[in-house]
Amino acid sequence: MVALCKISIVLGALAPLSQGLATESQGHRCRCRPHRPCWPSHDKWHALNSSIDGNLAAVLPVAHACKEPFLDASACNASTAKSTDSAWRAAQPGAVQWTNWEAWPERNQTCYFDSSKNIPCGQGRVSLFSALVDKAEHIQAAVRFAATYDLRLAIKNSGHCFLGRSTAPESLQISTNKMKSIAFTDQFRPAGASPRQLGKGPAVTIGAGVNLKELYAAAAKLNLTLVAGLAHTLGAAGGYIQGGGHSPLGNWKGMASDNALEFTVVNAKGELVPANDYQNQDLFWALRGGGGGTFGVVVSVTVRTFPSVPAVFVDFGFAVPQGNLSAYWDLTRDFHSHLVAISDAGGCGYYSVSPQPQDTNGTEVMLLYGGFLFLNETQTDKVHKVIDPLTADVRRNAGPGSFWNVNILPQISEWIDMALKGDADTTGGIVILGSRMISRDFLTKSDGPKRLTDALNSISESAGAVGFTGHVVAGGAVAKSAVDSALNPVWRRTITHIVFGVDWNSTTPLAEQKEIQDRLANVQVEKLRALEPDMGAYLNEANAYEKDFQTSFWGDNYKRLYEIKQKLDPEGLFIARKGVGSEDWDDAGLCTVGKESRRMLQAPS
Ligand SMILES: Cc1cc2nc3c(=O)[nH]c(=O)nc-3n(C[C@H](O)[C@H](O)[C@H](O)COP(=O)(O)OP(=O)(O)OC[C@H]3O[C@@H](n4cnc5c(N)ncnc54)[C@H](O)[C@@H]3O)c2cc1C
Ligand SMILES: *[C@@H]1O[C@H](CO)[C@@H](O)[C@H](O)[C@H]1NC(C)=O
Ligand SMILES: *[C@@H]1O[C@H](CO)[C@@H](O)[C@H](O)[C@H]1NC(C)=O
Ligand SMILES: *[C@@H]1O[C@H](CO)[C@@H](O)[C@H](O)[C@H]1NC(C)=O
Ligand SMILES: *[C@@H]1O[C@H](CO)[C@@H](O)[C@H](O)[C@H]1NC(C)=O
Ligand SMILES: *[C@@H]1O[C@H](CO)[C@@H](O)[C@H](O)[C@H]1NC(C)=O
Ligand SMILES: *[C@@H]1O[C@H](CO)[C@@H](O)[C@H](O)[C@H]1NC(C)=O
Ligand SMILES: *[C@@H]1O[C@H](CO)[C@@H](O)[C@H](O)[C@H]1NC(C)=O
Ligand SMILES: *[C@@H]1O[C@H](CO)[C@@H](O)[C@H](O)[C@H]1NC(C)=O
Repeated sequence: MVALCKISIVLGALAPLSQGLATESQGHRCRCRPHRPCWPSHDKWHALNSSIDGNLAAVLPVAHACKEPFLDASACNASTAKSTDSAWRAAQPGAVQWTNWEAWPERNQTCYFDSSKNIPCGQGRVSLFSALVDKAEHIQAAVRFAATYDLRLAIKNSGHCFLGRSTAPESLQISTNKMKSIAFTDQFRPAGASPRQLGKGPAVTIGAGVNLKELYAAAAKLNLTLVAGLAHTLGAAGGYIQGGGHSPLGNWKGMASDNALEFTVVNAKGELVPANDYQNQDLFWALRGGGGGTFGVVVSVTVRTFPSVPAVFVDFGFAVPQGNLSAYWDLTRDFHSHLVAISDAGGCGYYSVSPQPQDTNGTEVMLLYGGFLFLNETQTDKVHKVIDPLTADVRRNAGPGSFWNVNILPQISEWIDMALKGDADTTGGIVILGSRMISRDFLTKSDGPKRLTDALNSISESAGAVGFTGHVVAGGAVAKSAVDSALNPVWRRTITHIVFGVDWNSTTPLAEQKEIQDRLANVQVEKLRALEPDMGAYLNEANAYEKDFQTSFWGDNYKRLYEIKQKLDPEGLFIARKGVGSEDWDDAGLCTVGKESRRMLQAPS
């Protein structure tokens, strides 16, 4: 109860919350907000706390000890030291990974570590309360509580979302970070399958709070691997897989969501249900690519495991002398003209394109660097067959400082372990992304690589040397997969998914932030979209202000997704920014827009 009093002080002192956020005109429904008669009393919050074994926390932004009115120098030092550690941010209810989503600049509420201590700490988009759940019953209690009082609910796993989906203003958060169970089986039998049906083979059931590093490490101990991303603290069961989930193993075995066999979910009614090929098939379809935070709270997911096979790894860096931009972009064009062949040979990996000069062995050069994995491969001659033509081509423009190596890896799990040294990713900054998936058809057109490179060059110039990351994570099994799911269908045609970031800082005025966002949406991303208007963007690594996001993220699957959403969650309990059904709500997910609301008529006031 002490904590409850503290949060009241925060609310009273910092936020003029009794003023309406959005116009609550007729026909618009708003969720219950603090200081309204509908807001749960202290006793009600206390009862929720008891029902989840004392795991309810009142939440302040993580930097609060560095700001008025909470100044505490030693606590500020301690939190500042952790502020770029993604494992710490994942565990703190008052943090997400990208601090622009903690702030709410439209309300002038920020609490940045690096801004003046005299700017009072504003709650921003940070949830007011967090249910730090450690079992399914806790999730059920929190979901029912949010439904009963019509609260804004935010589901946070790692908090990595680049589109601000894991936090929401004035919300109750469900933090899944403590749900760390990992259970392997040799023969997985989905709930509801008849005893005569064949099992689905080796699999692992992953608790909602398990991160990728923990999961890979547990699998490696059994000489197993699985399709997951390349980062330490992304959640394995949350937004990652529900958004599709790309992986360096994708070309070999498909998207992460293609390998999901079952989800266990708390639905909008607070029921615990399985979703698989035999039960709740619509939900199963939607959870594989439909996006996190939208169809229920996933308690665990079961995915296939595979033997940790050998692989061939190619790492490369191609250098162009600083200043010779035309040579750099020609090299980039030639590089892209080989990606289809590399993908077709089983290559999967990442590359970085940046005309920003970098120091290599004491000389300033512009680099295109990265690596490709060829899974379950031990023959380097097969790999040379596609890599040698690439190096021969790019060498026309590459100079001193260039390198490429072809190595056999005895076990992919050892390589992943090396690639994920340490326990955390470096986060804590301000960033939004622009991205687009580029198809096989486009890259095989004679002018495709050139047009793509011209677009990258032009984006880069417009923003003062932006860098790009190319993800060659589709093709192969992703292209061939017969899985029918909500996954954006354009993934099946993709060869490379290209992402770039733009940022601002803690002192950038709101108007300037808006300019940066507008330029990203209307100018920079448009240059990529214009190349192939019928392709799309990956919903987990896309522009937070994506235009026509429904088509970009889901294409023709959107209609069915929206219908499933209406069926499973008619009241909109689970709303995620730029998620399915979010267009019926304002950006904060607090009030509906433009729609008559059934709930309005029967609202408890
Ligand atoms: C450093 C870094 C590396 C990345 N690498 C990859 C990569 O290799 N491959 C790739 O595909 N993507 C990658 N991503 C993108 C990543 O997939 C997204 O950031 C994704 O949203 C992370 O999911 P999360 O659950 O960890 O994050 P969160 O931000 O906690 O959640 C994301 C969304 O999922 C929802 N959610 C979380 N848990 C649950 C749950 N249990 N039930 C229902 N909804 C839930 C949240 O409400 C939110 O809407 C990377 C991102 C970063 C920052
Ligand atoms: C919930 O209960 C625990 C244990 O009694 C307590 O430490 C915590 O402060 C309570 N949370 C709130 C928000 O009051
Ligand atoms: C906080 O850190 C600063 C600089 O690192 C140091 O000078 C100061 O003494 C620290 N304060 C406390 C209370 O630990
Ligand atoms: C935002 O808050 C700061 C700190 O309280 C204040 O100085 C500033 O005037 C406010 N800006 C606006 C636009 O309200
Ligand atoms: C994993 O592989 C190694 C090397 O091939 C072997 O020594 C070890 O016994 C295997 N471990 C398991 C659990 O199968
Ligand atoms: C690896 O390749 C061999 C030979 O092509 C094949 O038999 C085996 O099934 C593959 N292993 C996996 C796990 O895909
Ligand atoms: C840039 O590189 C190309 C290819 O290596 C070369 O032909 C050209 O002379 C270089 N231009 C300058 C200005 O160095
Ligand atoms: C950098 O220099 C070292 C030592 O001279 C050399 O071994 C290495 O290959 C060089 N690396 C590149 C990328 O040129
Ligand atoms: C922050 O951004 C503003 C522009 O919005 C710029 O003037 C300022 O120099 C930047 N500050 C830092 C520390 O980069």
